[in-house]
Amino acid sequence: MFHHANPGRHVVLAITGASGVIYAVRLAQVLLRSGAHLHILTSSASQQVIARELQSAFPGPGADSKDWIQFLERISEAGPGKDWNLRPLSSEIHAEAIVEWHGPSNYSAGIASGSFRTRGMVICPCSMGTLASISCGASTNLIQRAADVHLKERRPLILVPRETPLSSIALENMAKLSQAGATILPAMPGFYQAPTSIGDLVDFVVARICDHLHVEHQLVTPWGSS
Ligand SMILES: Cc1cc2nc3c(=O)[nH]c(=O)nc-3n(C[C@H](O)[C@H](O)[C@H](O)COP(=O)(O)O)c2cc1C
Repeated sequence: MFHHANPGRHVVLAITGASGVIYAVRLAQVLLRSGAHLHILTSSASQQVIARELQSAFPGPGADSKDWIQFLERISEAGPGKDWNLRPLSSEIHAEAIVEWHGPSNYSAGIASGSFRTRGMVICPCSMGTLASISCGASTNLIQRAADVHLKERRPLILVPRETPLSSIALENMAKLSQAGATILPAMPGFYQAPTSIGDLVDFVVARICDHLHVEHQLVTPWGSS
């Protein structure tokens, strides 16, 4: 649970055009139950992936926090071609949870500056393109700029890449970012906890992201605790 006077309540969640948008949706659902103020960033390529994987579209630029929360809660519900079987979360959305969306060129947003303090930033899923741009400090959109800010301020930056196989270029970019302080947390679920649904596989990855953000969750039983 977040302490609400604490700037650590602010979490940046960037969604890029790699496969696995459902990871970001589930992560947002968990963070909103912790009372996070979520800053959502979406790349234009991510819209093609969400259309294909969730048969939907992100809320438009005019959407407010309530619209986003409603969207994030409903989008993971079962439907044709969407049999995630995500387990119901044990708590309700925190009354003080907020979602704010920032456009890709909005460099005036607080999160584009190091003086705006956050708990950290997660790029989930993270495309090889965004990974490459961050690794060379390009900052050509708000996702890349905010990531650069998190690195320079030495705040948690968690990248959840999805690609297979990985080229030497992608591997070198990941190594470079890891050395710069980022956490490379691939969308790579384990099977040792006997998953029975896609939802279990999604939760495996989301649980590890929450662990690295120091956010409480009941998504999986920690190994060795039962
Ligand atoms: C349906 C779909 C799935 C994709 N999956 C991946 C992927 O898993 N990993 C990846 O690096 N790129 C993937 N791409 C390609 C990226 O979207 C593309 O390289 C894009 O330029 C990334 O831009 P962004 O980093 O600004 O989001 C996918 C594209 C589409 C349309």
